[in-house]
Amino acid sequence: MARAMLLPFGGERRVRSAALSALGISRGTRVTELGCGTGSNTRLLVDLGAQVTAIDLSEPMLKRARSKVPGARFLRHDILSYRGPPAERVLLAFVLHEMDAGVRARALEAARENLAPGGLLGVLDFSAGAPFPVDPVFRAYLRVAEPELAREVLAGLPAELAQAGFRVERRRALCLSTAQVLVASC
Ligand SMILES: C[S@@+](CC[C@H](N)C(=O)[O-])C[C@H]1O[C@@H](n2cnc3c(N)ncnc32)[C@H](O)[C@@H]1O
Repeated sequence: MARAMLLPFGGERRVRSAALSALGISRGTRVTELGCGTGSNTRLLVDLGAQVTAIDLSEPMLKRARSKVPGARFLRHDILSYRGPPAERVLLAFVLHEMDAGVRARALEAARENLAPGGLLGVLDFSAGAPFPVDPVFRAYLRVAEPELAREVLAGLPAELAQAGFRVERRRALCLSTAQVLVASC
């Protein structure tokens, strides 16, 4: 689905790379990826030289991720209760839109507690603000293909990050402003 959706924007790899470039990853950067899915971001992070610990609750997702990215460490764990070694970067990519507000707050708390002092959180997810006629088409897609919760994150993520104790340092709009990457410190 992600591959098909991101084709008009230059392809999945290009969009994900643009998002990850906002995080300032270099060789040896310790990254904790919360909700890694099949490892599409994980692979790019490893290609950048990061040391990645990637967490997901779904064993089928992890099985695919492990075979796709042998250079990362994958753990089956609930994001909400995961507390690992502090990381210089924590990534939540297309995870928060699947959670209700209470669970999003707990996921952001986990992100904060997994960050090393001076570290940065990256949140890649949907965004409001696309121009006409992209916006109505995008919202129609969300209604059909994503949980109703997805619409809650559209405009609210920066405020939710602030409420969770983060300060948004940078925001980059992606895919004609249907997605965004927020980089935050705490
Ligand atoms: C839409 S996928 C995104 C995957 C990947 N980050 C990406 O950008 O393609 C969301 C992932 O978050 C995982 N997930 C959702 N809630 C979780 C939780 N509480 N603990 C661990 N993983 C969770 C799901 O299993 C799924 O793999």
